[in-house]
Amino acid sequence: MKHVAQLALTGLLLVSSTPAGIPSPQEDAVAAAAALPYPENYRSTMTLYAVVDRPDGMVRKLYVSLPALEAVKNQRAYPTSGDALYVIENYKAQSANQKYLLDAQKHMIPRENPETIHVMQRRGNVSGAMDNWNVQSFQVASHTPDLTATLSECWSCHVSAEKRDFVFSRPVLQKFLLTRQVQRWDCPKTNRQLCDQHLDPQ
Ligand code: HEC
Repeated sequence: MKHVAQLALTGLLLVSSTPAGIPSPQEDAVAAAAALPYPENYRSTMTLYAVVDRPDGMVRKLYVSLPALEAVKNQRAYPTSGDALYVIENYKAQSANQKYLLDAQKHMIPRENPETIHVMQRRGNVSGAMDNWNVQSFQVASHTPDLTATLSECWSCHVSAEKRDFVFSRPVLQKFLLTRQVQRWDCPKTNRQLCDQHLDPQ
């Protein structure tokens, strides 16, 4: 009996200690990010759904994991198992003679590898987290966290996509789901300012 009680207690402790072990980014950005590992093989396991060109010579490619894609498709909440992931690759565009090189469709041509990737992962955090999303920026060459990134800035910007579960490109992903064509667009604004494609259709 004592044994059973002990086992039950151990089980309880295990269950209750798991969510508390992963702090929310608001509580402890560093520890939350440490819980988010580099998403190895994302190019083969996740789906490329959009490519964005910006006039400051940045090309960004957006990937979604299958469980996150299914959640959007079925209009369900993203799972908190850690399987709902978004990755955005940040590439510099190729240039020559101070002009960006363009392909036949007049799109900028990204360099071979992105310098950094940004990752969002929904997981079982303690309550009060930014809807349970964790974030991290990684150096692609080393697969290690990009220490120059200030993770609280991710939130101060992504919070304006709260209506879209903090995912700016949801309208674009929905178009991808309808057409199965990778969505490619030129955003006329620099950095990561919003353009029309980020907004839900009225
Ligand atoms: C100034 C605003 C801004 C900041 C700061 C920012 N983002 Fe974003 N993020 C965007 C926009 C806008 C998009 C949509 C793609 C685009 O237009 O480049 C995006 C896209 C993403 C995506 C793809 C899913 C989505 O929301 O569309 C991920 C993942 C992401 N950002 C993670 C991060 C992380 C991690 C950080 C911090 C290291 C960060 N972002 C900082 C504005 C921002």
